[in-house]
Amino acid sequence: MYFPKTIATINFKGGVGKTTVTWCLGDVVSSFSDTKVLLFDLDAQMSLTQAIALNEDGYTLESRFQKWYEASIEKKKTIFDALDKFARPAKHFDFPVGYDFIYKLTDNLHFVPSVEDLYWMELDVFDRDGVKDFIRRLLGKITNAAKLSDYDYVLFDFRHLLRFFPTAFFHVVTLY
Ligand SMILES: Nc1ncnc2c1ncn2[C@@H]1O[C@H](COP(=O)(O)OP(=O)(O)OP(=O)(O)O)[C@@H](O)[C@H]1O
Ligand SMILES: [Mg+2]
Repeated sequence: MYFPKTIATINFKGGVGKTTVTWCLGDVVSSFSDTKVLLFDLDAQMSLTQAIALNEDGYTLESRFQKWYEASIEKKKTIFDALDKFARPAKHFDFPVGYDFIYKLTDNLHFVPSVEDLYWMELDVFDRDGVKDFIRRLLGKITNAAKLSDYDYVLFDFRHLLRFFPTAFFHVVTLY
């Protein structure tokens, strides 16, 4: 078991560069050293996901990412599905994580995209401790998964659509 450093770019104002900072940090750290980085887009506005999709495919629709993304939605392996499973009153958080949940942008830079469905997430399902618990459990699954890389850094991009996200993250991440 290893413990990645987790970083969330937080500001309560919109449009101040949170997504840009997350993306640049992930890109630079993973490009200039042998450091494995996992990026999470937890914003239903999907800025980071769109930036990555456009960046990779040069504005065509036939990208590797687009195909992977559609398959991930089809197989119910998105971050929305993870939250949905977690919110269900079951004893066991049954959501195995693999590369159908995490997209490999490069060898060192991996990515969990956002989905529009996050907009419709029932906010009342999650209180602050619920969000905290979700992130901890999901990170636990990722760090325990033998088939996945051992990530040095996990970076989160989000806005406070899910109203408890920012405060919950203060308790979970190493840096913010
Ligand atoms: N250092 C910078 N200098 C100039 N423009 C920037 C800088 N950082 C970001 N921007 C631009 O500012 C705009 C908003 O940036 P970004 O989307 O990263 O903000 P955000 O805080 O994530 O917004 P949101 O609250 O909507 O998620 C974008 O058009 C981006 O290209
Ligand atoms: Mg943003």
